[in-house]
Amino acid sequence: MFLMSRMTGRSFLFLAVWMQSVLNVQLKVSPHIVLIVADDLGWNDVGWHNSQMYTPNLDKLAQNGVILNSSYVLPVCTPTRSSLLTGYYPYHVGLQHNVIHSSRPSHLYMNFTLLPQKLKELNYTTHMVGKWHLGFCNWNYTPTYRGFDSFLGMYLGAEDYYTHSTGNSTVPGYDFRFNKSVYHEVTGEYSANVFARRAVDIINSVDPEKESLFLYVPFQSVHYPLQVPKKYEDIYSHIQNKARRTYCGMVSALDEAVGNITNALTQRGYMDNLLLIFTTDNGGPVNHGANNWPLRGSKNTLWEGGTKGAAFVYSKTLLNKTKYVNTEMFHVVDWFPTLLSVAGGKAEPGLDGINLWPTIQSGVPSNRSMFVYNIDEIMQNAAIRTASVA
Ligand SMILES: *[C@@H]1O[C@H](CO)[C@@H](O)[C@H](O)[C@H]1NC(C)=O
Ligand SMILES: *[C@@H]1O[C@H](CO)[C@@H](O)[C@H](O)[C@H]1NC(C)=O
Ligand SMILES: *[C@@H]1O[C@H](CO)[C@@H](O)[C@H](O)[C@H]1NC(C)=O
Ligand SMILES: *[C@@H]1O[C@H](CO)[C@@H](O)[C@H](O)[C@H]1NC(C)=O
Ligand SMILES: *[C@@H]1O[C@H](CO)[C@@H](O)[C@H](O)[C@H]1NC(C)=O
Ligand SMILES: *[C@@H]1O[C@H](CO)[C@@H](O)[C@H](O)[C@H]1NC(C)=O
Ligand SMILES: *[C@@H]1O[C@H](CO)[C@@H](O)[C@H](O)[C@H]1NC(C)=O
Ligand SMILES: *[C@@H]1O[C@H](CO)[C@@H](O)[C@H](O)[C@H]1NC(C)=O
Repeated sequence: MFLMSRMTGRSFLFLAVWMQSVLNVQLKVSPHIVLIVADDLGWNDVGWHNSQMYTPNLDKLAQNGVILNSSYVLPVCTPTRSSLLTGYYPYHVGLQHNVIHSSRPSHLYMNFTLLPQKLKELNYTTHMVGKWHLGFCNWNYTPTYRGFDSFLGMYLGAEDYYTHSTGNSTVPGYDFRFNKSVYHEVTGEYSANVFARRAVDIINSVDPEKESLFLYVPFQSVHYPLQVPKKYEDIYSHIQNKARRTYCGMVSALDEAVGNITNALTQRGYMDNLLLIFTTDNGGPVNHGANNWPLRGSKNTLWEGGTKGAAFVYSKTLLNKTKYVNTEMFHVVDWFPTLLSVAGGKAEPGLDGINLWPTIQSGVPSNRSMFVYNIDEIMQNAAIRTASVA
């Protein structure tokens, strides 16, 4: 009071502004986390690996962030997603073999606490937009029972991008829901646009100064069937091969969707406290238009082309070192403890994943010296990778 009474109006204003900035720092919520997963995107299908690809939005994020050059995933969809959300290798959760087909009653057991559930314990607002593929034979196994406040998307894979039906599957059916309800409002609309719009709505519904957002956006793009609005395919009119031309167009549509999401994040004021992760779920299927050059093999194989994923992280404020290629060993199982640490939480001991935030943040050597590619007793294949050979 004494101090105040002797202050001029101007220095009082100074003090007020200073106090407010101190308070802002103290009250700053945990970082927002946006986790974008592309489906079946090959190593050579992104602009930062292949200048023939038109992915300006992704390239900008990758080049201003950290490009992960040794980021490994499982060779197909369900196993990768199970590791991403549990922090365990798929052979520890029973999902190491292939994907969950429409009539297969597999799921993530209830005793696994999923990443969004952990983040909810830390008071995050959690939303999912896109492809689940982790089981739906009981409501308890579906997204809104596993930590997500809302869900818009599909339970399975390989749907038609416009009708949202798994037309050619062994058990055909419409596969599109909003939360628990079957949702027909977007029939006829390309899924990349539907998902980008929902993601933008979520971004605009949260106040980034007051609550922390975890937004999980596993796009349908660029899985087959090969379908895209003509204008994206026309970008690649010089490509003779029809499958490749369509596939590349699908990648550019995905890029535009990511651009719309990042524009919304910028406009709504998330960027000063945001970590954005982009990764593929597995290597590209070369029989469906993808390209993994110079890596050997394809989706569904344990070769590099099936398991070395295109990935980057972007943040304006949370990374100590940016604009470089990080070659440290990383595995999809590591996102669980790594993201929890960014959120201010801690994973339980015994996980297969390791918190590699120091490596991502500053490029210091990775604590991971080996990983298991997979152990699939039905396919009768297994492999490990170790860092040291000397
Ligand atoms: C990144 O990975 C690719 C594919 O394995 C390899 O050709 C390239 O040399 C790597 N880059 C660095 C900087 O290690
Ligand atoms: C969850 O339950 C399964 C099946 O009973 C078991 O194999 C697995 O070890 C359990 N995992 C955890 C993390 O408790
Ligand atoms: C989450 O919010 C509740 C209610 O406001 C509060 O009691 C709790 O401490 C918060 N937890 C964390 C980890 O911030
Ligand atoms: C889905 O749930 C979210 C969160 O509760 C809600 O905002 C949204 O309106 C719901 N969607 C539908 C179609 O009910
Ligand atoms: C179904 O099969 C037809 C003929 O092979 C193909 O043209 C179409 O793209 C497929 N649709 C889906 C949803 O896979
Ligand atoms: C991106 O946003 C623009 C403007 O709202 C819209 O016209 C376009 O369809 C969106 N693209 C995608 C892929 O969502
Ligand atoms: C990165 O920077 C932050 C803030 O300056 C610091 O606390 C942290 O220790 C740094 N991390 C590493 C691994 O250097
Ligand atoms: C590696 O793990 C050890 C033991 O948990 C820890 O003390 C160290 O900080 C970690 N280093 C990095 C770079 O993550």
